Amino acid sequence: MKIGIGNDHSALDLKAEIIEFVKSKGHEVVDYGTYTSESCDYPVYGEKVGRAVAAGEVDRGILICGTGLGISLAANKVKGVRAAVCSEPYTAKMSRLHNDCNVLAFGARVVGAELAKMIVDVWLGTEFEGGRHQRRVDLLNAIEERN
Ligand code: RB5
Repeated sequence: MKIGIGNDHSALDLKAEIIEFVKSKGHEVVDYGTYTSESCDYPVYGEKVGRAVAAGEVDRGILICGTGLGISLAANKVKGVRAAVCSEPYTAKMSRLHNDCNVLAFGARVVGAELAKMIVDVWLGTEFEGGRHQRRVDLLNAIEERN
């Protein structure tokens, strides 16, 4: 798959490790920044990756800020994005199986690199289950349309 990745200044080192890990699993990575440790605003990068996913430029997105929260909130403002903050592999797996999340977020100040890799690994390797869960995702999309 082609994976878009984005982060703020708090996550520069973790992003580098995650990029190498994702590549080692055979995926292509597009890095949407930030590229330096200079303080920056997470909404910029959440939106960049969200738009790339929504436009089909990349198949899925990974976002990292201090907590994963701010950057996921930004991505979720983009129509068609379902971003989930996951701090352990179970939620990451369910976010794919039941919610068809197309963006994964986590916090560089919350999870260590090895746990983050486990989260990413299970998330990339899990497909949406469909069935009754498709109806629920359709209902989520309908909320987006109404608002
Ligand atoms: C930056 O200090 C921090 O607020 C940001 O990385 C993130 O945790 C916001 O949700």
